[in-house]
Amino acid sequence: MTPDLMEAGAEKLARWKARETMDGGASGGLEPSFRQGVALYVEDITVSFDGFKALNALTLTINVGELRCIIGPNGAGKTTMMDCITGKTKPDAGRVFFGTNVDLLRLTEPQIAQVGVGRKFQKPTVYEQLSVFENLELALKADRRVRASLFSRLTGTQLDRIGEILALIHLKGDAQRTAGLLSHGQKQWLEIGMLLMQDPKLLLLDEPVAGMTDEETERTAELFLSLEGQHSLVVVEHDMKFVDQLTQGRKKVTVLHEGSVLAEGLLSEVQANEKVVEVYLGR
Ligand SMILES: Nc1ncnc2c1ncn2[C@@H]1O[C@H](COP(=O)(O)OP(=O)(O)OP(=O)(O)O)[C@@H](O)[C@H]1O
Ligand SMILES: [Mg+2]
Repeated sequence: MTPDLMEAGAEKLARWKARETMDGGASGGLEPSFRQGVALYVEDITVSFDGFKALNALTLTINVGELRCIIGPNGAGKTTMMDCITGKTKPDAGRVFFGTNVDLLRLTEPQIAQVGVGRKFQKPTVYEQLSVFENLELALKADRRVRASLFSRLTGTQLDRIGEILALIHLKGDAQRTAGLLSHGQKQWLEIGMLLMQDPKLLLLDEPVAGMTDEETERTAELFLSLEGQHSLVVVEHDMKFVDQLTQGRKKVTVLHEGSVLAEGLLSEVQANEKVVEVYLGR
């Protein structure tokens, strides 16, 4: 059965497709809310490891509500870029702003999470011994903005929120299941659910569908599409089919190479770009 979330994603796709036919794509694929401002502004960041520049004057802007896919060969600097945004690595030079006025380089990793930047690492990190529900409950109580102790009872609103997220990540029927027994894909969804409990404005997802089955990958694309607009998403992926599902032939993708932006444009455009082909094939 298709869960609410997947339906929302599928509905969104259908709406885009309908509009594409109506206006011939004149809107450029951007919903009005996507033009409301900047969610993330990365300017000229450079990160050196023993003289080697993992990032080299990287500049990037993500709009509010935008879903941006970032691609690029191994070692291009994609994960390092996320490390700089989340405070794990401090760049040698450059600026990183969340919205227009939060200077992320002045904040610590926990502070960055607290202002609304959520990050999903490649490996799922759920509490295997706890149930799906308990994992979400913990994520809620770990949120510093919520004054709840680990032992306090959940309020009705909090219970509702957990229910919403369970539906969103398609795990409503598995709420009482031990997380360790979930499939790899379901664990990834649970971790995304745990991030969503804290209602991040910006979500950074590093290779979210690595190791997923085709069906799980497709459902993840629908999940992300349903989050688009309400959250800004930066998705790093090597799986081009997934990137195609997310961009629907209408959204811009960014190609990183040697720590800088090599190309930006529709997936079909960047895939046809000679420089991009060259770095993927290796010279
Ligand atoms: N802590 C570190 N010390 C030294 N070099 C590092 C460190 N972290 C990353 N690098 C190097 O920086 C470059 C960029 O790495 P990064 O992990 O950001 O690439 P990536 O685009 O995420 O690659 P992949 O697609 O393989 O995940 C690589 O050459 C990597 O070896
Ligand atoms: Mg990486």
